[in-house]
Amino acid sequence: MENVATQHARVLSGMRPTGRLHLGHYHGVLKNWVELQHEYQCFFFVADWHALTTHYDDPGIIPPSVWEMVVDWLAAGVNPGEATLFIQSRVPEHAELHLLLSMITPLGWLERVPSYKDQQEKLKEKDLATYGFLGYPLLQSADILIYRAGLVPVGEDQVAHVELTREIARRFNHLYGREPDFEERAEAAMKKMGKKNARLYANYRKAWQEQGDEEALAAARALLESQQNISLADRDRLFGYLEGSGKVILPEPQALLTKASKMPGLDGQKMSKSYGNTIPLNAEPETVKKQLRTMPTDPARVRRTDPGDPEKCPVWQFHQVYSDEEVKQWVQEGCRSASIGCIECKQPVIDAVLAELRPIQERAAEYEKDPDLVRSIINEGCEKAREEARETMEEVRHVMSLDYR
Ligand code: TRP
Ligand code: SF4
Repeated sequence: MENVATQHARVLSGMRPTGRLHLGHYHGVLKNWVELQHEYQCFFFVADWHALTTHYDDPGIIPPSVWEMVVDWLAAGVNPGEATLFIQSRVPEHAELHLLLSMITPLGWLERVPSYKDQQEKLKEKDLATYGFLGYPLLQSADILIYRAGLVPVGEDQVAHVELTREIARRFNHLYGREPDFEERAEAAMKKMGKKNARLYANYRKAWQEQGDEEALAAARALLESQQNISLADRDRLFGYLEGSGKVILPEPQALLTKASKMPGLDGQKMSKSYGNTIPLNAEPETVKKQLRTMPTDPARVRRTDPGDPEKCPVWQFHQVYSDEEVKQWVQEGCRSASIGCIECKQPVIDAVLAELRPIQERAAEYEKDPDLVRSIINEGCEKAREEARETMEEVRHVMSLDYR
């Protein structure tokens, strides 16, 4: 079944604060966020609790990383006027939802998440046989569900976490979305849309449920989205009624798979801190020049007169990210015929990387000069996020019979 939440078109994503960002993050994640913020209502947050699951023995590195990361986001063009930026631990409702979801989460679901065993293997020097680490993906589910986000931009490695989130949402809705008088409430909600819309909705619902008419389903959802006069709870009922389920309290999100970044590292492998092959976003221009000038090339070009093969050279991968057709042609011919030298070949890449970093670094400098501004952006974002989270929690507490006072 298609999910309801894409209709709400809210995007949520998070990043763990574990060090400075580099060009790999910029090409792989941040450019994508910047585009999404124009199209959707976006929530981007610093997953500081998630960082603690692996850095619990060294929490001191988290605070500076949090602020550096926010500055890097802003510098990369994430716009606080369009997207809501916040810090996970400043919205404690995430922890409450995590706890409540833990009550209905079978242990086996968590043990089966591939990253659980993989990461334990990879980070052998750390004891990750902890309760918090096992719950890592469930905390992530709470992050997503508390905003009823429809789309979650993530890399390949996180898709299983979004899958788990969908299963948790389904289980939650199944357990708690069955109001005893659901049908009557749905019918009453329908009437609140007005005669004409109620009739439209009923017809679409029939066409979907009896003939599987997908267009009718989409039209009914669009109709519900456009309703101003009904409460959130009524809308959730009508979404559920449409699909023949109970009330949809926590809609199922969808992963928005971020294409693997084409950004190579200085050695041609994927750019990653653990390979030590990164160009940090805050690298001095002189350092960047030196890094690129000394990066390896096709080992067959021992002498300037030896022809080379761009396919065997990491510099070529940089050209694929940064150069136009004409320059790429020049590289291909020049390299294979030994008519250009490697330093010459690297120059357009050096120019392009510096040109890309310049505005990012200028913006970063502005924000670094004004930490109060950064703090107030985050304060505002946390407030806004918290309002949304509170609203969801009120309903979650209600359906879980926790609203006695
Ligand atoms: N686990 C994600 C990562 O390591 C970070 C994260 C935490 C996240 N909560 C999230 C991403 C919610 C998307 C949605 O990259
Ligand atoms: Fe690499 Fe360019 Fe040198 Fe060829 S000329 S080996 S592509 S740096």
